[in-house]
Amino acid sequence: MLAAVYDRTGPSHEVLRVQEMPTPEPGPGEVRVRVRLSAVNPTDWKSRARTATIPDAGFQVPNQDGMGTIDAVGEGVEPGRLGERVWLYFCAWQSPWGSAAQYSVVPSEQAVPLPDSASDELGASMGIPAVTAHRCLFADGPLDGRTVLVHGGAGAVGHYAIELAKWAGAQVATTVSNDEKAELARQAGADPVVNYRDDDAAGQLRSLAPLDRVVELALGANLALDLALAGPATTIVDYAAEPQDPVLPVRACMNANVTLRFVLLYGVPRPALLQAAADITTALSDGALTELPVTRFPLDQVAQAQEAVQAGTVGKVLVIP
Ligand SMILES: NC(=O)c1ccc[n+]([C@@H]2O[C@H](COP(=O)([O-])OP(=O)(O)OC[C@H]3O[C@@H](n4cnc5c(N)ncnc54)[C@H](OP(=O)(O)O)[C@@H]3O)[C@@H](O)[C@H]2O)c1
Repeated sequence: MLAAVYDRTGPSHEVLRVQEMPTPEPGPGEVRVRVRLSAVNPTDWKSRARTATIPDAGFQVPNQDGMGTIDAVGEGVEPGRLGERVWLYFCAWQSPWGSAAQYSVVPSEQAVPLPDSASDELGASMGIPAVTAHRCLFADGPLDGRTVLVHGGAGAVGHYAIELAKWAGAQVATTVSNDEKAELARQAGADPVVNYRDDDAAGQLRSLAPLDRVVELALGANLALDLALAGPATTIVDYAAEPQDPVLPVRACMNANVTLRFVLLYGVPRPALLQAAADITTALSDGALTELPVTRFPLDQVAQAQEAVQAGTVGKVLVIP
């Protein structure tokens, strides 16, 4: 098969190459997927650039997410799964076989049935963004009738956080930085949509206070705004690190009696991941999840694809293997 691969961390054009590789065989409990679309996330370029531990195999095929069709099953996997159309997550997590290749092998549970009504592009976009959004939203209980503020509502995680929270019955507000992103967030169902750079951002969100949940990706930048809208029932869930760690205003957090939670998907307990995958598939079947704009690259431009994500391309960047 053809695969993108790197065997050391570094700049994309220096370490990423495309080459012929032996097609992997699924081990016990695994499935092999003919990948139709591989999706790039910030974690993929960050791992390739600086944090990856190269697997014992001596190489890493990048990219955690994608979609395709199961074409082989390992021992213990129901043969009826052959031919199933699936969305994928964690392909490159503790495995050399990421999704930026014609074939990937993953544990059977990480190849999740994709409803016929969902497009290939939507299926490939689920993975890390939708599972992260699910964990941030539901780790502290159901959302029916609750209020949620999603920061960065035109980002991949933000977009699926808005749509999953709406699907679960919440009122959802969001923040963005410009009109183009505001329109995307409105289409996802957020109301109100507020520019977080406005001096009066807190005033524009006041009617929703005290919030039940804040889905946060820039704790230092936004904490004053979050605390202005928080109360004892508010949980602020942060899933991203800023270049500089913020200084925590402990007294202000105490005054609000607020709860802080942090999420790193790689450490989320397995039952929560399985619940997320099941709920996301149900939400897909219900037509509650929609595509962001997509930018496609052929496999031999995998380096450019990762750079596009690093540069902040709006929407999802997909690689066609
Ligand atoms: N912890 C985890 O397990 C986990 C999982 C997934 C992603 N992540 C991390 O989460 C981040 C987002 O991932 P993604 O895939 O959603 O990226 P993305 O699609 O690029 O979205 C990021 C969004 O954040 C917005 N943003 C930046 N600064 C903001 C601020 N101060 N307030 C509100 N919005 C702000 C950006 O828009 P503007 O710049 O225009 O504001 C952009 O729309 C990345 O750093 C990624 O590594 C972590």
